Amino acid sequence: MAKLETSLIHEGEQFNTTKSVVTPIFQTSTYLADDIAAFAQAAAATKSPEFYHRHGNPNNSQAAALIAKLEQKEDALVLATGMAAISAAILAVVKSGDHIIAQHAHYAASLTFMRDFLQQYGVEVTQVDQTDNEAFKNAIQPNTKLIFIETPSNPNLDITDLAFIGKLGKEHGILTMIDNTFASPINQVPADFGIDIVVHSATKYLGGHSDLTAGAVCGSAEYIEQVWRRSLLLGASLSPFDSWLLLRGLKTLALRVRQINENALALAQWLEKHPRIKSVTYVGLESHPQYALAKKQMKGFTGMLAIEVDGADDAQQYQRAQALLNTLQFFQNAVSLGGVESLITHPASMWGAHQSGEKSNKPSFSNGLLRVSVGIEHIDDLIADFETALANL
Ligand SMILES: Cc1ncc(COP(=O)(O)O)c(C=O)c1O
Repeated sequence: MAKLETSLIHEGEQFNTTKSVVTPIFQTSTYLADDIAAFAQAAAATKSPEFYHRHGNPNNSQAAALIAKLEQKEDALVLATGMAAISAAILAVVKSGDHIIAQHAHYAASLTFMRDFLQQYGVEVTQVDQTDNEAFKNAIQPNTKLIFIETPSNPNLDITDLAFIGKLGKEHGILTMIDNTFASPINQVPADFGIDIVVHSATKYLGGHSDLTAGAVCGSAEYIEQVWRRSLLLGASLSPFDSWLLLRGLKTLALRVRQINENALALAQWLEKHPRIKSVTYVGLESHPQYALAKKQMKGFTGMLAIEVDGADDAQQYQRAQALLNTLQFFQNAVSLGGVESLITHPASMWGAHQSGEKSNKPSFSNGLLRVSVGIEHIDDLIADFETALANL
């Protein structure tokens, strides 16, 4: 079987039915049928790559085949955004009267989807502390259909025990699903731990260049067909051009993520020693409370870190965080993550309103907290950038 780096270049090539070495962009909404019989066959086929764009497209089929391979799942579906993938993936599992176990910490829109949207349709959600295995177990009800986890989670970088969740789901006949966006399949393969469904915001590491939005759902072929059936109705198809960009980005996924891992660890170690930095949360640091678990289930530690700027009080922390954001040259103040360029954001300004649960009573995040997505710039420049900005605080 081909190694990961080879799959990144060649997997899914069968969907390129032309002689072009690089799959062309199939920029069409509809496809010719040879005759009525062929038309009927394409209309009935699951994810037909050549019928009508909402059903499928060769670029999308190629991207999905590659992502399924990376996540070691039978099949996958790509959609227009990470949220399109997450919402369709959940709607393919639950119906009115069902129950979901989720974490306190998730990407904010995932939480809003479960707590506000799904609850209006009679789906119950219990949020638990992701660092507490027993809390997941204790939250199980007779109508629990899904355990949805995110690890490392956004933006607190807590870890969920994948082997425990995989086993718990199997023991109780409950499907398990992970948002693997922060880790990427280079750093973490949840299928190794028995997790059933893997979702991604492919906007982040998979695309890797901050030039597209996309989402992916991976699972058994039977399950992906159910997700596809819902996606036909929800309508969030991934455009051929974004799919083509995603495939182009995926070719360098392993190279990018490994460089990002290396840069992030070096930066985290440097920041940890700086007197103006109160704390550094990075799953690759021995000081991370779940470092041992991270080492057990991850092959690399990602480019995501959270730092807290020191200050006498909340107001000074806020003012220093702002000054830092304004002074940094290579870490740009923008949402999103996982691109080749380094980004930095202020979670208290971004997510405060969305978070809930005991673990995140207001204020949800310290005003000194900054989330960093480390890119592939030279590490000396990244450190020098922080050195200059911190010296000016
Ligand atoms: C962990 C995680 N999951 C899902 C999403 C949603 O992805 P998208 O913006 O592509 O819909 C994001 C976006 O930031 C994210 O960080």
